[in-house]
Order: sequence, then C-alpha cells, then structure tokens
Amino acid sequence: MVRNKRLTFLASLIKDYPVVCDIGSDHGYVLEMAFKTGTIQRGIATDVREMPLQSAMKTLKNYPVRTILSDGFLAIDEPFNAAVIAGMGAHLMTEIMEHAPHHEAIYVLQANDRIAYLRQRIIELGFQIVDEYVVHDRFYYVIVVVKRGHMTLSEEDVLIGPFLKEKADSRPYYEYRLRQLKKIIDVADENKKGELSLEWNYLKKRLECGQTKE
Ligand SMILES: C[S@@+](CC[C@H](N)C(=O)[O-])C[C@H]1O[C@@H](n2cnc3c(N)ncnc32)[C@H](O)[C@@H]1O
Repeated sequence: MVRNKRLTFLASLIKDYPVVCDIGSDHGYVLEMAFKTGTIQRGIATDVREMPLQSAMKTLKNYPVRTILSDGFLAIDEPFNAAVIAGMGAHLMTEIMEHAPHHEAIYVLQANDRIAYLRQRIIELGFQIVDEYVVHDRFYYVIVVVKRGHMTLSEEDVLIGPFLKEKADSRPYYEYRLRQLKKIIDVADENKKGELSLEWNYLKKRLECGQTKE
C-alpha cells in the first residue's frame, strides 16, 4: 500500500462514512487506505480516463468498489455519504462541483493551487465550509471540507481560510505562504500585485497578532 501524509490524511477524513465516492481516483490509493483503516461499506471510484480507472480497479480489486468512467459526477447514478476530489487544480475542481448531486454529503476537496478561488467559488455554488486542514508532506496541501448550505465569507476568510486562521497548525503554512508571496509580488504586474498584497497583509496581521490558537 502506498503511504504518504497527504493520502493518509485524506483517507482519515472519509474512512468512516458508509458509501464513499472518489472523483479522479487515478491509482485508487485514497480509497484503499480508507478501506484498510476505517469502516467504509462501499466505494465508488471514478476517473475521466480509462487507464487510471484500470489502475484503480487493480488496486481495489479486493474491496467492494464500483469503478465508473465519468467526467466528474456526470455518470454517478447512486447516492453516497462522502466524496473526495483531490490532486487537481481548483478551476477543474469547481467545474466538477457545479454538477455535484443535491443529496446530503460531505465533500473533501484538496486542490493543488488557487485555494482562495476554491473557497470563493464553492460558496457561490451553494456550499458551506465545515473545516479546513493543512498537511505538510514536502509541499503544503490545504484540504477544504464542504457540504451543501449557505455561508458568507469575509475577504480575509476567502484569502487565508475561515478555519485555518483559527488553528495553530496553520502557522508554518502561513509563514511559508508569506515567503512565497513575497517572491511573487516582487515580479508581479500592478493588478496582480494588489491582489497578492491583500493576502500578504492578512497573513502578516494574523501571524503578528498570534491569533492562530495554540
Ligand atoms: C493527479 S491525479 C490525482 C489522483 C488522486 N485523486 C490523488 O489525489 O492522489 C488526477 C486524476 O483526476 C482525473 N481527472 C481529471 N479530470 C477529471 C474529471 N473531469 N473527472 C474525473 N476525473 C478527472 C485524471 O484523469 C487523474 O487520474
């Protein structure tokens, strides 16, 4: 079984729901780990491409998993309690979430980029954020958990995270992000500079106030 902190953490968030759907499952490792460590009864592994789906079939052959060739949720014809969408860009992820079914479920979202865009767009699509986490495994990965519902976010919430900003665990990530933003801001055009500076200011303020709870 392939193990890394990101996969292990994603699996820990879905492992005790009865039916779990993995959108863009690729190798199928997230579901495999969730089956090994939790109480999932059934899985649905999907991918838009045939080759990754075959790879998931191989990994998950000993588990009660249905594999479906599907663009996002489009070919999913049964309810689930939790879904995980991980390891892709925020733009693609929010396009997939536009077609999420309307029954009650939690969605564990781990985008590789543009987390602020993901927060903003997911709220516009009629979801509320229920928690956020950061996992460090060579890179920093932000995980946003959502369910259907209404929520308003301040500019600070969108940029640095309504839950992350209250967590002590966010500190190393925020410090890393400050360093990263500094480099980008130095070479950005004026429009982009303004937007990035906003995030920089919110991060700096949070870190200086020590408002991330210990
Ligand atoms: C980088 S892999 C991530 C695999 C796994 N979810 C993880 O986090 O390790 C992204 C996978 O998403 C699949 N994918 C891309 N667009 C998709 C879509 N619209 N619907 C379903 N799967 C998609 C790709 O084929 C690929 O297998």
